[in-house]
Amino acid sequence: MNLVVLPGDGIGPEVTAGAVAVLQRVAQSHRIPLEVTEDLVGGASIEAHGSSLRPETIQRCKRADAILFGAVGSPRWDDTNPDPKLRPGTAILGLRRALGLYANLRPVRVEPALIEASSVKADRIEGVDLMVVRELTGGLYFSKPKRRYESARGKAAVDTMRYSAAEVERVARKAFELARTRRRRLCSVDKANALETSRLWREVVTAMAASYPEVAVTHMLVDSFAMQLVRQPADYDVVVTENLFGDILTDEASVLAGSLGMLPSASLAEGRFGLYEPIHGSAPDIAGKGIANPIGAILSAAMLLRHSAGRDDAAAEIEGAVSRTLERGLRTADIAAGGRSVETQEMTEAVLGALA
Ligand code: IPM
Ligand code: MG
Repeated sequence: MNLVVLPGDGIGPEVTAGAVAVLQRVAQSHRIPLEVTEDLVGGASIEAHGSSLRPETIQRCKRADAILFGAVGSPRWDDTNPDPKLRPGTAILGLRRALGLYANLRPVRVEPALIEASSVKADRIEGVDLMVVRELTGGLYFSKPKRRYESARGKAAVDTMRYSAAEVERVARKAFELARTRRRRLCSVDKANALETSRLWREVVTAMAASYPEVAVTHMLVDSFAMQLVRQPADYDVVVTENLFGDILTDEASVLAGSLGMLPSASLAEGRFGLYEPIHGSAPDIAGKGIANPIGAILSAAMLLRHSAGRDDAAAEIEGAVSRTLERGLRTADIAAGGRSVETQEMTEAVLGALA
């Protein structure tokens, strides 16, 4: 398969290097043909080309089978700049939109070896195994109108939350399909007591439930779900929600796993194409120090093999190697709770060594 690697900024290049090394090793042992090319995005691309996401880069991604993405964001380039080309964050939002990556899968598993690393009590997080499906190309992030303007009362701005039934349907379908292969429970999270889009969302999910009688569906309001997520997280299996709610809830959920650095994600389009990235950002405070946790990126490579290459076996091998490495006691600083920690490189090598 033809893979485009977009390391981006900050710790992005450090963690993607680890993920690519693991991916290449596993691809070779499983005889998965893999051709890797790289391109710049975010602050790195602004510096080299004057734009955080070039049309050439989008074209190259469209020709690929999958994208492995690091992180974007740099203290040198402010994400509030009025010119979108000079905002690093435009790169990831632009790719999601241009590549039609409407379903963002964010699995949150608590590794038994890391139970104590979480700030939530151990008895609450034991057995947590969630899959959050976040709608990724609609809602408040992308709907129009979206702009600044002058009103009679001074400066004003508007963002819009709009969903068509078709947009809700396609992401809900992914969530139902996943639920069916897991514990067959689906919780749809909305704000139907306040938002028209949420009432439509709930209606669509309810109608679709009829075609999945084996899946037990519940609906929850987002505020109440945010609370339950730290009270009884093990109660949930698949969770489906709109773009901004999913953004907020998955950072909250990462606390269960011990660190934002642990979590991978897959952003899927129609068919097998996908973009894979750790959910953490570019972490400028630790960039260049070689101490970032590569596990979120490495597990993203596992998701790539599962969803874009259709190779569950190869994906499971990586996931197993990560679990064994953690069981052996290796910790990067973010999950070491002040104890002994290893650097990015050593963690990567340990995972490579733990592969079958
Ligand atoms: C994420 C990030 C992005 C988002 C930012 C960088 C625009 O927080 O992937 O969760 O809000 O989607
Ligand atoms: Mg986020």
